[in-house]
Amino acid sequence: MDILTFLGSPRKKGNSEILTEAVLEGVKQAGGSPEIIRLCDLKISPCISCGGCDKTGMCVVEDDMTPLYDKIITIDKIIVASPIFFYGITAQTKAFIDRTQALWNRKRLLQKKGEWLENPKRMGFFISVAATRGARIFEGAVLTMKYGFDAMGINYGGDFLITGPDRRGDMKKYEQKLAEAREAGKNFISGLDANVD
Ligand SMILES: Cc1cc2nc3c(=O)[nH]c(=O)nc-3n(C[C@H](O)[C@H](O)[C@H](O)COP(=O)(O)O)c2cc1C
Repeated sequence: MDILTFLGSPRKKGNSEILTEAVLEGVKQAGGSPEIIRLCDLKISPCISCGGCDKTGMCVVEDDMTPLYDKIITIDKIIVASPIFFYGITAQTKAFIDRTQALWNRKRLLQKKGEWLENPKRMGFFISVAATRGARIFEGAVLTMKYGFDAMGINYGGDFLITGPDRRGDMKKYEQKLAEAREAGKNFISGLDANVD
């Protein structure tokens, strides 16, 4: 099964990427074949709120987001990974999520015509790392991702969230968490993850 993975950190081989690699090891062990897309290598403009997608469900801005729309709507499993920057997802990830407004509109228009097909197998998974602890550290990011996956027409299938790692590569020290991440990857691809509230 194909699985689309978006890396949202501007730091290559950083902590969220190491954690994502562990999740993807589990995914591969369970038979999944991931495609990885690094958002900071792409030119994705922020949504300009032009209203162009309101009537058509298509984004009028043409850039590296354009080919991603078809990829997103034709795949069952999507992973988005982003570290926490100022209590939210990174700017690169946010620009990507904001541009899914076109898909939100597409879904709304299809629902209006009675042509929207709900597919419960379509699931999204969110991976995040923050340096500091705090009960609410992932709250904003998780809410953004829940709404973002909803715009993509997929269910929030769970998340893997770690506090502590800060310097590049710190994540490697968290061996137990990496082992748990591999299991989470297996469960996600098998549709077993229940880490949703
Ligand atoms: C601009 C910026 C803002 C950050 N804001 C937060 C924050 O609000 N809370 C926090 O716990 N960590 C914050 N961090 C730390 C990162 O979440 C942490 O270093 C993380 O491990 C980076 O993951 P990466 O290596 O995948 O980029 C911030 C880092 C940067 C560069």
